[in-house]
Amino acid sequence: MMTPSSCCELTVLDLVPFGQHATDRRFFALRLSRPDWEDWTPGQFVMIRPASFGLEKPWGRPLGICLMRPQHLICFFQVVGRGTEQMTRLKPKDKVTVWGPLGNGFAVEPDTPTLLLAGGMGIAPFVGYVAKHPKPWNLTMLFGHREPLECYPVDSINEHIPLDTLRETVPGDLDNFIYTIQERIAEYAAQNGLILACGPQPFLRTVQNLTRESGARVQLSLENKMACGVGGCLGCVVKTTKAWPVKAKRGQPVQCCTQGPVFWADQIVLD
Ligand SMILES: Cc1cc2nc3c(=O)[nH]c(=O)nc-3n(C[C@H](O)[C@H](O)[C@H](O)COP(=O)(O)OP(=O)(O)OC[C@H]3O[C@@H](n4cnc5c(N)ncnc54)[C@H](O)[C@@H]3O)c2cc1C
Ligand code: FES
Repeated sequence: MMTPSSCCELTVLDLVPFGQHATDRRFFALRLSRPDWEDWTPGQFVMIRPASFGLEKPWGRPLGICLMRPQHLICFFQVVGRGTEQMTRLKPKDKVTVWGPLGNGFAVEPDTPTLLLAGGMGIAPFVGYVAKHPKPWNLTMLFGHREPLECYPVDSINEHIPLDTLRETVPGDLDNFIYTIQERIAEYAAQNGLILACGPQPFLRTVQNLTRESGARVQLSLENKMACGVGGCLGCVVKTTKAWPVKAKRGQPVQCCTQGPVFWADQIVLD
């Protein structure tokens, strides 16, 4: 049974920058005191709102749950705007409000060959996926990224499973990455494997297009903009296809935060 979500105040344990050699510090692991949830599923997320947001920013920011251990909860984030910029000023003992665990996680099929496709920060939920998987020898990962590899939490993944990385520095690298994804998808579709993808929308759209013809079983984790995170504001909706399981909702918008963020690729339309 899925752990019910709750809202709690957690304490910052530390904030560790990644990619020390990058020109500016934009990648961080945020370690918080452990919430009192019984369990969580990789692919689920939290809404985080530091006390320092004050009245200026009423909403939290959605971050994937990277890992939860007996003593702590870890999220990994990249600075992209005002909220994440402000989060870089968090210090040990600061308080943050956390809603979670939210949404649906990725499918886990222990005996099925499973391909993890990550683009950029889309790698974050796969840290937990690999750590919690009962048979990690059935997993492999393909990771495309723009920043140096040391900016991402790859160590905790490649110590458990084979990880192929491709860095995009010139336009030709992207073509190469797409070609590699296409080859891997064909390989996994042929053995009725499972494919899980997380990353920016253009990356997910490419994966969705490449898998449409192959008949592969694919789940996509969306990073739609979110405000409330709990289904109330309709700010995060995604349109469904005729494959959506609830007949009355086919072709209709559904909330990404409560019905996702993980969806079967054939059940949603990506703009
Ligand atoms: C389910 C989910 C999981 C995510 N997991 C991670 C993660 O593990 N690590 C990570 O670095 N980022 C993750 N993101 C993206 C992250 O939420 C955004 O980068 C962040 O909200 C940007 O906030 P900002 O204030 O810095 O940017 P601004 O652009 O100033 O934000 C303004 C508003 O837009 C929303 N917003 C902006 N960009 C996004 C976005 N890409 N996705 C969702 N909301 C957005 C914010 O919540 C805020 O309400 C995730 C997004 C979703 C939906
Ligand atoms: S973020 Fe408010 S409904 Fe999804």
